[in-house]
Amino acid sequence: MIALIDKLEKSRALSKEEWITLLRGRDEQTAAYLFERAQAVRKRIYGDRVFIRGLIEFTNYCKNDCFYCGIRCSNKKAARYRLSEEQILSCCRKGYALGYRTFVLQGGEDPYYTPQRMEELILKIKGEYPDCALTLSVGEQSEETYRLWKEAGADRYLLRHETADEEHYSLLHPKKLTLSARKQCLYTLKELGYQVGCGFMVGSPYQSEETLAEDLLFIHELQPEMVGIGPFIPHRDTPFAKEPQGDLELTLFLLGLVRLMLPAVLLPATTALGTIHPEGREKGILAGANVCMPNLSPEEVREKYALYNNKLSTGSEDALHRSELAKRMERIGYRVVVARGDPEKENQNV
Ligand code: 5AD
Repeated sequence: MIALIDKLEKSRALSKEEWITLLRGRDEQTAAYLFERAQAVRKRIYGDRVFIRGLIEFTNYCKNDCFYCGIRCSNKKAARYRLSEEQILSCCRKGYALGYRTFVLQGGEDPYYTPQRMEELILKIKGEYPDCALTLSVGEQSEETYRLWKEAGADRYLLRHETADEEHYSLLHPKKLTLSARKQCLYTLKELGYQVGCGFMVGSPYQSEETLAEDLLFIHELQPEMVGIGPFIPHRDTPFAKEPQGDLELTLFLLGLVRLMLPAVLLPATTALGTIHPEGREKGILAGANVCMPNLSPEEVREKYALYNNKLSTGSEDALHRSELAKRMERIGYRVVVARGDPEKENQNV
């Protein structure tokens, strides 16, 4: 196992069979070695810096019906909301004062937010905060729409591929959503010049070492700037209500693997990771992650953006939460910085 980790660090790629061997042979000792190498690689490029992104969950209306997701359209129990432009801008204002230099607009695929409405919003945010990066995460759109938003000033786009195995994809999504359409969106976004993030849940129903190996091969092929990986957590009002939640150690292991495969990747210790363990985010950083994405949405809508149950939401005031996060990172030897946190070149800081 150790030899495979060394090979991964050196060649930044493994074959499908090698990925499967590593995932099947994973044990405590291998994980400890992986995390040590992942931290060394990340330190070489990013030092002890942790980047923060202010997450604004601006709408939980969604026209899609993904089987795992709490805001799927057929969940009639979900209390729907959307933030107004003013509310969104006020989240940015609050975030900027707290040192956020990236805002992430995340939402369901909400027809109310037409390409033009989004364009206006992007122009406003980038107009007021030209020194900030703007990340969008609003699902599959046409090339034209992605271009419109890029030209309006959007910098990054998060669109998890969810699983790179066709058959597995069809077990997680309704028929009209396809892996090929999802991949096409990711390639289009890349071509348009976005910094792109793909990713997947760990422990989603029907996942196997084979499908995970496919995920790793796809990530290698896409060479994204960002990768979002978090445990699957069941939501009571979805078809997957009774499925078990994803494993913490496997999630950490995958974070480490992705760090070795893509040394300069921006890798968040996700909210879902913080939800399944009180120190989940610290553990994520220690496994190779270098990004945290705290929630900037107004208190009163937070519990409504429930993709899964018991989602981490620190009821505490934001300023307090912000210094708490800084403290948590300091305790493990890292430092939250005020910066856009763009991808850096590998030899920049050597
Ligand atoms: N558990 C964990 N993550 C989830 N997501 C959606 N539903 C769940 C769930 N039940 C993730 C998906 C999506 C991202 C925004 O949230 O991977 O891309």
